Amino acid sequence: MLANVLLSLALACSASAAPLVAPSFPTVAKRDNSPFNITYSSPRNATYDSLPRLLIMATGGTIAGSSTSNTDSTAYTAGAIGVAALVEAVPELLETAQIDGVQVANVGSNSLSDAIALNISKLATKAVCGDDAPYDAVVITHGTDTLEETAFFLDITVNCSAPIVVVGAMRPATAISADGPNNLLSAARTAVSPLSRDRGTLITLNDRICSAFFCQKTEANTLDTFESPEFGCLGHLLSVQPFYHYPPSMPTFKKVYDISKVQSLPPVEIIYGFQGSDFHLVKSAVESGAKGVVTAGTGAGSLSTAGQPLIDSVIAQGIPVVRSTKINSGFVAPSTNATTIAGGVFNPVKTRRMLQVLLALGKTNDEIRAAFEEPLGSYLTQF
Ligand SMILES: *[C@@H]1O[C@H](CO)[C@@H](O)[C@H](O)[C@H]1NC(C)=O
Ligand SMILES: *[C@@H]1O[C@H](CO)[C@@H](O)[C@H](O)[C@H]1NC(C)=O
Ligand SMILES: *[C@@H]1O[C@H](CO)[C@@H](O)[C@H](O)[C@H]1NC(C)=O
Ligand SMILES: *[C@@H]1O[C@H](CO)[C@@H](O)[C@H](O)[C@H]1NC(C)=O
Ligand SMILES: *[C@@H]1O[C@H](CO)[C@@H](O)[C@H](O)[C@H]1NC(C)=O
Repeated sequence: MLANVLLSLALACSASAAPLVAPSFPTVAKRDNSPFNITYSSPRNATYDSLPRLLIMATGGTIAGSSTSNTDSTAYTAGAIGVAALVEAVPELLETAQIDGVQVANVGSNSLSDAIALNISKLATKAVCGDDAPYDAVVITHGTDTLEETAFFLDITVNCSAPIVVVGAMRPATAISADGPNNLLSAARTAVSPLSRDRGTLITLNDRICSAFFCQKTEANTLDTFESPEFGCLGHLLSVQPFYHYPPSMPTFKKVYDISKVQSLPPVEIIYGFQGSDFHLVKSAVESGAKGVVTAGTGAGSLSTAGQPLIDSVIAQGIPVVRSTKINSGFVAPSTNATTIAGGVFNPVKTRRMLQVLLALGKTNDEIRAAFEEPLGSYLTQF
């Protein structure tokens, strides 16, 4: 009885809800992929030519990892397999999109440099933004260790509606039950779905789709690791097809920055807080060339009394110090008269990326403070 009531309620609700109909992609006449140095192209014929055009940018990582043992998930070589082998391992991809592949790097993501990250952002913009962009969507295969850093960087620097999906794997390609093939197909199907437009950069692993703005790695070893604590995922993959829980929306306060003229990202260090820490490494960071410092402080970004004078001394030299939290979840809210800048909702690595972007754009320290603090600060002072 109750089940029937619930069923009819559910039917009544679904009858009034907007139907989940996929709009079609805008068609683009021009297809000039020459600037991309494509190293792999999927087979084309009359059937495949009607599929959306997808650029896969491969960077290495565990998804391209190889080991001599099929039980090895700790001592394998990351970034051993090229983009063609990745795609050819998943024949379903050929029915999903017309695929071109480019090998942007082939490294474990802990070795992925700022220069490579900058290249990825510019290449993704060239691939999908603008009227004559040659692709409909981009998938980036990436090591999971720093996947959230690249994904967040793309989210705040690529300014268009086209889907950009970052994907990795927790088990190397040679492992029993390797997760890479399913994750890659998930990423491709998510990327070519028009339902994925206007959602910013996305991350797909383990049958979840999450927003790069909030998503982070939460567990060092298991497949079930990319999550958005507090914010939840945007959708799931059901039978490897994207299903979104809500229509497209952007995170509150999200802003995109134009980095088309940026040639390099300035060095920014992260310094970890702990009981009794005096943050003396802040001084070494600046002496070794850091143009900004992020503190991964305790709790809501608190710094020790002993650390404050040292931190103030580098701020006096013009170095911005932005407080984040080693908790990796929750807010560091602006506080009156603080010499440091409150990082807001970003975890330390995302705070670092944001600070790098602002510094690269030549923002003053007041502008950097405003970029981090003003949206949340002006919201809070309404009360
Ligand atoms: C493509 O290759 C050419 C020639 O090697 C090089 O000048 C260009 O920068 C490359 N483009 C990209 C996007 O890597
Ligand atoms: C294109 O190739 C696929 C795979 O071989 C095949 O299923 C499909 O029928 C082909 N389409 C045409 C028009 O030849
Ligand atoms: C970035 O891309 C340019 C070509 O656009 C290439 O010359 C350069 O080597 C790339 N940098 C890195 C670090 O891969
Ligand atoms: C992003 O694109 C929109 C629409 O094309 C444009 O109005 C806006 O100025 C762009 N923002 C940046 C930061 O380039
Ligand atoms: C902030 O600084 C002003 C001026 O020095 C002082 O009057 C005020 O008490 C300070 N507020 C807090 C919360 O420390």
